[in-house]
Amino acid sequence: MNIEPPRRLPVPAQVVTASPAAEYRGTMVNDSPDPQPVGVMTFAWADLPAEHRLACAELWQHVWPLADGSGVAGRLAAMESTYDDQHGLQLHLAIADTSLMAVARTFLHTVALGREPLDIVALASVCSHPAHRGKGWGDAVVHAAFERAAATDRPALFQSPVPEYYERFGSRAISNEITTSVVGAKPFTDPFAMIHPGDTPWNNVPMIDLKAPGW
Ligand SMILES: CC(C)(COP(=O)(O)OP(=O)(O)OC[C@H]1O[C@@H](n2cnc3c(N)ncnc32)[C@H](O)[C@@H]1OP(=O)(O)O)[C@@H](O)C(=O)NCCC(=O)NCCS
Repeated sequence: MNIEPPRRLPVPAQVVTASPAAEYRGTMVNDSPDPQPVGVMTFAWADLPAEHRLACAELWQHVWPLADGSGVAGRLAAMESTYDDQHGLQLHLAIADTSLMAVARTFLHTVALGREPLDIVALASVCSHPAHRGKGWGDAVVHAAFERAAATDRPALFQSPVPEYYERFGSRAISNEITTSVVGAKPFTDPFAMIHPGDTPWNNVPMIDLKAPGW
């Protein structure tokens, strides 16, 4: 498979938090002869520079190509049109040698767990660059997302095709049926819905209404 190298990014200016990646794992690569800082940076969506938006769009488009063939431009347009509606949207970027290695997206949201409203952190769009997997980048951005859940005292709610990956963090799959009351929107489509932390007190009511399109 022909994989483009990660897009080189200018050093970002406007970040919510920045953590040295070495805090997460000792094996991250930064093998440039002139290494740039390595770290996980969290941006508010509104502050995410255009180059970083494009890098996210390219990575997501590579991992989950849009079915309509609109490519990276279509992906960027979809991001611009939907993300402004996501309250408190943040992007967690793992950057090494000024390149995007992995990304995750979180926003603050309220779902209905049966009849009860539940404030959650929605976690979505987790992926790492296919040429740089197994080096801790995925873990680094997921860690940043789960830190946000802890800091806001909300469970993270997300879908996944790879529950084992998140079980390593202590997340767990839930059995409630996931629906959405937003007309014409799809709920989750992955085989598993998950919460983090896995020991969050949970109501196994039959249905969760996401009250939004699935993320
Ligand atoms: C899942 C994904 C994000 C992992 O990223 P990564 O950068 O390779 O992950 P890391 O290097 O941080 O972590 C690797 C660890 O996770 C484990 N891991 C990776 N994929 C896994 C999976 N599918 N199931 C269980 N464990 C997995 C590795 O064994 C490794 O464990 P170790 O720390 O004991 O060596 C990446 O494979 C990816 O982008 N996949 C495609 C998109 C996707 O499925 N995203 C998840 C959507 S919810």
